[in-house]
Amino acid sequence: MTEQKTVYLADYQPYTHLVDSVDLTFRLAPSATRVSARLSLRPNPERPGRNDLRLDGEGLTLVSCAVDGKAVTPTVEPDALTLAAKDLPDGPFTLETEVEIAPEANTALEGLYMSKGMYCTQCEAEGFRKITYYPDRPDVMSRFKVRIESDLPILLSNGNPTAQGPGFAEWDDPWPKPAYLFALVAGDLRAHSAKFTTASERPVDLNIWVRPGDEDRCAYAMDSLIRSMRWDEQVYGREYDLDVFNIVAVDDFNMGAMENKGLNIFNSRYVLASPETATDDDYYRIEAIIAHEYFHNWTGNRITCRDWFQLCLKEGLTVFRDHQFSGDMRSAAVRRIEDVVTLRSRQFREDDGPLAHPVRPESFIEINNFYTATVYEKGAEVIGMLKSLVGDGAYKRALDLYFDRHDGDAATIEDWLKVFEDTTDRDLSQFKLWYSQAGTPRLKVDEAWDDGVYTLTFAQANPPTPGQPEKQPKVIPIKVALLNPNGDEVVPTIMLEMTREKQSFRFEGLAAKPVPSILRGFSAPVVLDRKPAPGERAFLLAHDTDPFNKWEAGRALAKEVMSEIALKGTPVRSDWLDALAAVTFDDTLDPAFRALCLRLPGEDDIAQTIHAMGRIPDPAKIHAARREMAGALAIRLGDGLSRLYKDLDDNAPFSPSASQAGRRALKVAALQLLTRRDGGKLAASAFARARSMTEEIGALAALLEVHQGQAELTSFAARWGRDANVMDKWYALQITTAEPGDAAALADRLIQTPGFDWKNPNRFRTVIGALAANHAAFHHRSGAGYRLVADWLLKLDPLNPQTAARVSTAFETWPRYDASRRKRAKKELERMLAAPDLSGDLREMVERMLAAG
Ligand code: PHE
Ligand code: ZN
Repeated sequence: MTEQKTVYLADYQPYTHLVDSVDLTFRLAPSATRVSARLSLRPNPERPGRNDLRLDGEGLTLVSCAVDGKAVTPTVEPDALTLAAKDLPDGPFTLETEVEIAPEANTALEGLYMSKGMYCTQCEAEGFRKITYYPDRPDVMSRFKVRIESDLPILLSNGNPTAQGPGFAEWDDPWPKPAYLFALVAGDLRAHSAKFTTASERPVDLNIWVRPGDEDRCAYAMDSLIRSMRWDEQVYGREYDLDVFNIVAVDDFNMGAMENKGLNIFNSRYVLASPETATDDDYYRIEAIIAHEYFHNWTGNRITCRDWFQLCLKEGLTVFRDHQFSGDMRSAAVRRIEDVVTLRSRQFREDDGPLAHPVRPESFIEINNFYTATVYEKGAEVIGMLKSLVGDGAYKRALDLYFDRHDGDAATIEDWLKVFEDTTDRDLSQFKLWYSQAGTPRLKVDEAWDDGVYTLTFAQANPPTPGQPEKQPKVIPIKVALLNPNGDEVVPTIMLEMTREKQSFRFEGLAAKPVPSILRGFSAPVVLDRKPAPGERAFLLAHDTDPFNKWEAGRALAKEVMSEIALKGTPVRSDWLDALAAVTFDDTLDPAFRALCLRLPGEDDIAQTIHAMGRIPDPAKIHAARREMAGALAIRLGDGLSRLYKDLDDNAPFSPSASQAGRRALKVAALQLLTRRDGGKLAASAFARARSMTEEIGALAALLEVHQGQAELTSFAARWGRDANVMDKWYALQITTAEPGDAAALADRLIQTPGFDWKNPNRFRTVIGALAANHAAFHHRSGAGYRLVADWLLKLDPLNPQTAARVSTAFETWPRYDASRRKRAKKELERMLAAPDLSGDLREMVERMLAAG
């Protein structure tokens, strides 16, 4: 293991050399793959003087090394190969190296590894150094040519295919790229193919490569890819730039997917779909992730990051683009609500705890630990705010300028903001605080009504976060509208631009005191602190014309009710029940929207809310409160619920469309509530009759929630036992629905089943991750949840540190809870820290989490 060093943004220096081209030859063998690399190098004029050449490399066995054809003996350390300046020509030269690696032994799934007989690579962020000696940093961009030698039938790499024959294939990527975008795949694969013609008539061959037998589950991914390509042409004016675009699905993958140039590699769960095996949520995710990786071709690949501190340059922008795309493909209102739900449950949670960091961090130890909700989701929100502030027209012009000015560059956030400044003449220095200050701002709102003048006063508080005790006020775009008491909009949406700590905005000429609809569309990632007048939330839920704020009113009311029950043991409030009933049975509303309103806030969300009130959340009480609310709702909705269910239970042939998905979501929500009353009769028959995985898993969840469904679990496993992606649902669902006190023991039992292949990241996450995500179970007072998760993190860490470190974020909320829980959680964190040979990845996470208390 290499020594842990902190890297600082402020220390950036260009690389000593330029790599004009690189030729790679792979002779594939599971335990002894040979990689030959020929690099055309020359000194970088930006680094004057004569410099040593230091190449990154980890876990490589050096076979040979030559400069301009002459063998040399470099200095080899565990993480680098160095040639002294005095041994190098003072101009262009060629470096040839050959190394041996063992993909079969690579369990970390970073670099070149094997998954079920197939070779596959993952190089972002710093995985290329496990393949060959190379300047493994994103600002070194080069032209790659690749030759693969292997008996496997399908041999793929980046760019365009140039030659192939028995036992070999050659690829040439004409676009200079950083090493993290390199990819290689070899295996017995089948293609689902299609053709695409770009706006300027370039024909492109599209292939989705999967294992034999999976070809018939690729249609939706292909359709999503084609729609993404068209959308990027129409909305951003960006065309694809190679003759082929390949996507490969692999079962063992640490993340969702990877945007390697011309050869995207995907976790198979985000490619494969059929109505029987994929839920509507799976369909949505496939569409979104296919789009995300495709969009990276321009935002990430053509314009890449100068260094890893700039990660949000590509990720925030690409997430923003995929959100826009999903909004255009589906209901924009529903998508916005879902995106905000995710933002709050993952990013607000992160921003509120020991792992909080700026969208652009200023230092890191292990870059893999910074692929976070903050960089991705908050990074996207920051771009949404920028677009609101400058307007749609200027946003478009700024992006055109960005692509013109920086195509082929490794760019920075400064470059990004500069195109907006140059387009609009705005000074964005205050806006830039969104990139440098961590923490979720809290926005307090006060209102005054005085003789026809209505005043809204906002005060922003920027809470301290690790390493950032003091903060300056940020620019906050606040979209506001005013409604009059009968529900009409008297002031349509306007954007207030808050720049100071405290600021008032006046509205004149109003006949009556209005009801404000604040932060429409969730125009900034802040927590709104407002004590509304009694009945105001129900009023907005009924009347707000902004779909986000309409939903938000119901959400805020539900959160308030749930926190009150958990804190004070009050009964379920009837104003909430009545308001929700009105929405549920309002046929003029989109079923997907109604289903969203019926989804109760998550328990972790409520813990976050209670913590923000300065109180200590009790997971058991929150769990009981949520259950009580569901029960009361089932009763309040009465017979209407059965009628609603029957209306939605139609025989339309399956389509993954957003509108059908919305109907299914509402139907499943109704079924789950009905099941609380009928003991499971309807759900059992719904399970038996299910014609889609959404219905099948929805019915099974309904049964498990009322402690039924054992027979159904057995039949589900018998039917899907050979399909890993479907069985992941079977594992996860049992753990998510288990009683808090039983979940750890249940997880332990599932771990004993032969299907628990813990080295597979998906399976690890569906069992260990699901336990960590079951709030009441993970934080059970016995400490059994903490213990089991820590045991398994310690077990996985030596094999796959990246995934272990990511799952460890389950512990990030530990400082929120009572002394006894804190003590137990801390003990587990300390136990992990004490483990011999803990990986750098997990060590950094545990140390940061422990620093909180
Ligand atoms: N860059 C990938 C994405 O956005 C994520 C990723 C990071 C995948 C690191 C693998 C490793 O979508
Ligand atoms: Zn991405």
